[in-house]
Amino acid sequence: MSYKEYIASHRDDFESRFFEVLRFPSVSAVPAHRPDVRRTAEWFRDQFAGLGLSAELIETAGPPIVFAEYIPKTMTDETPTLLIYGHYDVQPPDPLDLWHSPPFEPTIQNGNVYARGATDDKGQFLTHVFALESILQSQDSLPYKIKFVVEGEEEIGSRGLEHFLHTDEGKHKLTCDCIVVSDGSQFAPGQPTITYGLRGIIACELFLTGPDRDLHSGTFGGAVFNPAIALTKILSQFIDENGIIRVPQFYDDVLPLTDRERSQFAALDFSEAEFFAEIGLQSGFGEKGYSVNERRWAIPTFDINGITAGYQGEGSKTIIPSKASAKFTCRLVPNQDPVKIAELIRSYIGTLIPPDITWELSVQHGAGGMSLDLDQSKFVEPMVQALEATFGKKPVFTRGGGSIPIVAAFNHVLQADVLLVGWGQDDDALHSPNEKFSLESFHRGILASAMFLKRL
Ligand code: BES
Ligand code: MN
Ligand code: MN
Repeated sequence: MSYKEYIASHRDDFESRFFEVLRFPSVSAVPAHRPDVRRTAEWFRDQFAGLGLSAELIETAGPPIVFAEYIPKTMTDETPTLLIYGHYDVQPPDPLDLWHSPPFEPTIQNGNVYARGATDDKGQFLTHVFALESILQSQDSLPYKIKFVVEGEEEIGSRGLEHFLHTDEGKHKLTCDCIVVSDGSQFAPGQPTITYGLRGIIACELFLTGPDRDLHSGTFGGAVFNPAIALTKILSQFIDENGIIRVPQFYDDVLPLTDRERSQFAALDFSEAEFFAEIGLQSGFGEKGYSVNERRWAIPTFDINGITAGYQGEGSKTIIPSKASAKFTCRLVPNQDPVKIAELIRSYIGTLIPPDITWELSVQHGAGGMSLDLDQSKFVEPMVQALEATFGKKPVFTRGGGSIPIVAAFNHVLQADVLLVGWGQDDDALHSPNEKFSLESFHRGILASAMFLKRL
């Protein structure tokens, strides 16, 4: 049996194992889910072991890293290494009442499987595992090493893997020539896509405290500064009416888009009106002089993710709250240093604090952005061929607006080319209620990955 026949005859088997792993609520952000997170890691380890690979869990301060290795039969010092990265943790499923089916009970509808983690990233990562399985189970082999690295804290900043990467053992274990990651989306359904850049991120939380308890807003109102008002005033100073960030020196290190990129983006088949209609909007918002794709892929952002202050229960309560806080993130572009940006933000906030308000800024995680020069990479051509053979279409090259914190670090420390080939779609609702992944994309991803592995 050829690997293609194996793939064609194992559709049900692949799906049932995919659904099995979707049932683990591996939410990295919630400490109570740590046992589920570990069980998910063990599940992946056992899949690799079942293929005859050496497979282990590497402990970190947080969730374990799953590491597995395929070693070819004959090997020299020159034998190249491919690393395939993914993450088995998922975002919290909240708000639960908006799901049409339970988030950890995979449910098929219209050819999609609905579950938290379906597209981000269990289903996308698994395509590569099943691709290698199809090759090995059809008595075939590959002439190079493959390392699988699946981590359990991508959604909270990849601290453990980042730390491991900087140890001697980690560098040795992770060293490779090329990295393949499927943890993003295609430019359009049916349109294969190679993503050559991602944005970085810095995630912060600002805490303000005014009076040492909630106060009666009649007895004290007018005579004390309300911390919730202080918070809104501070946050409103972060961007101007055109979306430009007002933190001094914020843009100093930004690498502008090249003319070549701008014309490549402009040549993509993309309707801004449809893009907004899809999410119930009409015109969008952003920095003048940039197209929507430039805004979402290649310029920095400031966003508030959540605000907390005062009374949020039913009815009214006449208080001046003692405390107010906000979670916010900035997406960063290549060459902006997250540590430096955090310090600029800290200094800026210092200039905005009204009297009597004490404050604390907690920086939760950060990661640099990246933009790869794939022109020179010898790994691009086999991927282009595999994608073209599977999709019947040449891939487009785009950047992405999201962040995969470890990828920039991998690229930098391991000096390896990174190929980001997402199988998801922009409407997969990752991080939202009713996350889905198309089963057709799942099976096509397996085939495309196997073709790539065979051509490499
Ligand atoms: N898979 C996403 C990143 C992504 C999404 C890349 C869409 C390209 C297209 C990843 O799991 C993710 O959500 N990353 C977080 C990182 C953060 C929590 C440190 C993000 O971008 O918000
Ligand atoms: Mn992901
Ligand atoms: Mn994610």
